[in-house]
Amino acid sequence: MPPAAMPLPRIRLLATGGTIAGAQTTGRGYRAAALSIQALVAAVPQLATLARLEVEQVAKLGSQDMNETVWRKLAARAQAALDDPAIAGVVITHGTDTMEETGYFLNLIVRSTKPIVLVGAMRPATAMSADGPMNLFNAIAVAATPAAYGRGVLIVANDEIHCAREVAKTNTTQLGTFHSGQRGLAGLVNSGRAHFYASPVRRHTAGSEFILPARAALPRVDLIFAHAGMDRALIDAAVAAGARGLVIAGVGDGNLGAPALAACAAAAKKGVAIVRSSRTGGGVVERNIEIDDDRLGFVVADELNPQKARILLMLGLTQTSDPKALQEFFFDY
Ligand code: SIN
Repeated sequence: MPPAAMPLPRIRLLATGGTIAGAQTTGRGYRAAALSIQALVAAVPQLATLARLEVEQVAKLGSQDMNETVWRKLAARAQAALDDPAIAGVVITHGTDTMEETGYFLNLIVRSTKPIVLVGAMRPATAMSADGPMNLFNAIAVAATPAAYGRGVLIVANDEIHCAREVAKTNTTQLGTFHSGQRGLAGLVNSGRAHFYASPVRRHTAGSEFILPARAALPRVDLIFAHAGMDRALIDAAVAAGARGLVIAGVGDGNLGAPALAACAAAAKKGVAIVRSSRTGGGVVERNIEIDDDRLGFVVADELNPQKARILLMLGLTQTSDPKALQEFFFDY
């Protein structure tokens, strides 16, 4: 905490909705994004001890409806805030369902060494024992600490700090839903006191090369989940729908059965980028084990989960469709 005479850091709080802004309806239901960011901030007067907040409602949606339009707006608003020398960091309130995708997208697109922290909640703001207020308090504390500089986009929930590249939502309802797998936590945050343990291992934010195309939408990339007895229908349908890339959430080490593999090989021959990721939720997808990636012109997702592999492939395809160059992106980011 800075000495009393020093002004508190200025933090820009960008709101998008989610359960952190949710209100219960009748019975067991609730509506995400029901409350404004002003209402969320007013419910936690202790925030004023951490930072001078400037709030902006960028969107008001459940994160199942997150899309490229909102991503672009968020990236632009975050960049503008971080380019302002008076702003110390940015916090973004967001639904937990797709938070890891938005976090990874911003990790690749925003250029800054200042903290960018995404925060959500598993219980609606009006629920008994809502987790949003403490999560928000902790997120602002993390964004306000100089120790968070240079760590890329972070996700704060349940007293934990995660790197955007590593984190995944792993549980439908429990407060401890976010996990960073084998890479582990970036740190802990206890009632506003942040403790960092690990730094991001891959290129991000200020070190990223990706730029959003100004005039065109990101290339279409579809994500297809593999399973026992899979045929080729969904792969062919995605190619027919105009996909420039496919991410396969493969079984085990990113594998898929013979009919689906043949469809992917045919798609790759037509110039569609094929990325093999894994539906297992952990580990590295290795090249050329059971599938001859070199011969087929496939790319492996390394450790990225399928939903994040989709984001990297969309951005990668804005620069190249060469499988070798795309593969390097998956090893670098
Ligand atoms: C959402 O992702 O918007 C709903 C779920 C949540 O925020 O926990």
